Amino acid sequence: MSPFSNAIIIGASSGMGAELARLLARKRVRTALVARRREALEELAAGITKETPKAPAPLVYPHDVRHFDEVPTLFQRIAHDLGGLDLVVYCAGVMPPVAVNEYDFGKDRMVYEVNVLGAIAWLNEAAKRFENQESGVIAAFSSVAGDRGRKGQPVYSSSKAALNTYMEGLRNRLGHRGVRVVTIKPGPVRTPMTEGLKMPFMINADEAARQIWAGIRSSRTTVYVPKKWRAIMWVIRSIPSALFRGKDI
Ligand SMILES: NC(=O)c1ccc[n+]([C@@H]2O[C@H](COP(=O)([O-])OP(=O)(O)OC[C@H]3O[C@@H](n4cnc5c(N)ncnc54)[C@H](OP(=O)(O)O)[C@@H]3O)[C@@H](O)[C@H]2O)c1
Repeated sequence: MSPFSNAIIIGASSGMGAELARLLARKRVRTALVARRREALEELAAGITKETPKAPAPLVYPHDVRHFDEVPTLFQRIAHDLGGLDLVVYCAGVMPPVAVNEYDFGKDRMVYEVNVLGAIAWLNEAAKRFENQESGVIAAFSSVAGDRGRKGQPVYSSSKAALNTYMEGLRNRLGHRGVRVVTIKPGPVRTPMTEGLKMPFMINADEAARQIWAGIRSSRTTVYVPKKWRAIMWVIRSIPSALFRGKDI
C-alpha cells in the first residue's frame, strides 16, 4: 500500500495538489489539505470520501501561506489532529501572467511570498519535526522553469531556482538524520495555472500525480515529471547564455 500514514499537502485545493490528495487517499494515507479556498477544499474532501470510502477522511485547513506567523501553530495543530506525520508536500504556487515589458513589484513579491517564503515557513517546521523523529519525507513542487532564467517569467523562474537551492540545503542538513528531501520539477501540466496556455508536451494532472507519487517513494532527490524533462533540461541548461537570450523558452 503506502510507506506513509499521515501527510500534509499545502496547496491542495486544485491541480496537482488535489490529484495527489486523491491518490494518497487510494493508498489509505490520512491527509490534511491546506489552501486558501475553504469551499474547494471541502468539495475535494467530500469527493475523496465518496470515491474512497475506506480511506481516512481528509482534514481541511483554510490558510493563506503568506500569513507566515500562523504556520508554526497551525503545523502543530495539524500534526496533532492527524495523530502523527511522515510526509509533507509543499505544492502551493502562483504564476501570474507577466508581459515581457512588465516590472510589477507587487506581483513579483506575491510570487516570492507564495513560492518561496511560504515554502520555507512550512518546510522549516517539517524539518524540525522530522529531524527529531529521525524519519519522514519533505517534498516541494519546483518546476523545469527554475533551471534557467526565462525572459517570459523572470520572477517565477527565479522563485523556483531559489526553492531548488533551499531544498538542496535541507537535504544536505537532514539526509544523515533519516529524512528524505525531494524536489519535484514538473514540465507543463494541465491545471488551472496553465489554463489557456499553449505549452509543449503537456500532460494531465492525474498522470503527473502518479509520477510524483512514484518519485516521492523512490530514492531520487530530484524528480522530473515526466522523466524526459531531465534530458531536455540538461540540453537547455547547456545552451550558452548569449544564445539562450533570444529564445522564448
Ligand atoms: N501546471 C504546470 O504546468 C506546472 C509546471 C511546473 C510546476 N508547477 C508547480 O506545481 C505547483 C502546483 O500548481 P498547479 O499547476 O497544480 O496549479 P493550481 O491548480 O493553480 O494550484 C495551485 C495551488 O496553490 C494554492 N495557493 C496559491 N496561492 C496560495 C496562497 N496564498 N496560500 C495558500 N495556497 C495557495 C492554490 O490554492 P488556493 O487558491 O485555494 O489558495 C492551489 O491549491 C505550483 O507550485 C506550480 O508552480 C506547475
